[in-house]
Amino acid sequence: TTVFVLNGPNLNLLGLREPEIYGHDTLDDIAGRMEDQAQEIGLTIDFRQSNHEGHLVDWLHEANAAGAKAVLLNAGAYTHTSVALHDAIKAINVPVIEVHLSNPHKREEFRHKSYVGMAAKGTIAGFGALSYSLALDAAASL
Ligand code: DQA
Repeated sequence: TTVFVLNGPNLNLLGLREPEIYGHDTLDDIAGRMEDQAQEIGLTIDFRQSNHEGHLVDWLHEANAAGAKAVLLNAGAYTHTSVALHDAIKAINVPVIEVHLSNPHKREEFRHKSYVGMAAKGTIAGFGALSYSLALDAAASL
């Protein structure tokens, strides 16, 4: 069984981008650790990143068509703006777990609203790269 891990805008710059907020790990570092963790618990990971909102919508549909076990979604800033992602999560049968490196509730007001979180099964945020790992454990136990 496969878990899709979908990453949104600017996460390709992880490690370089505001490291005091997001840490020094690159997205490749995180992907590598997720692969190892997935193997240990008998899951397959499909790890992707796009800066384009519509790609994320398409990939949610694809995860559904593929019968994925779960989707871990760090939608980046689209979290706070995207009704399209909200609707896509509602439109599919696969459980979606919202993931963030930072804790958006501790940050600017415009990050306090999450269109993803309002449709997701649950949210894991604020643990840096560990958020992904915790979310994968949550996905495995669904
Ligand atoms: C983020 C939080 C968002 O508010 C921000 O726009 C990001 C990263 C996180 O993982 O902490 O791009 O999703």
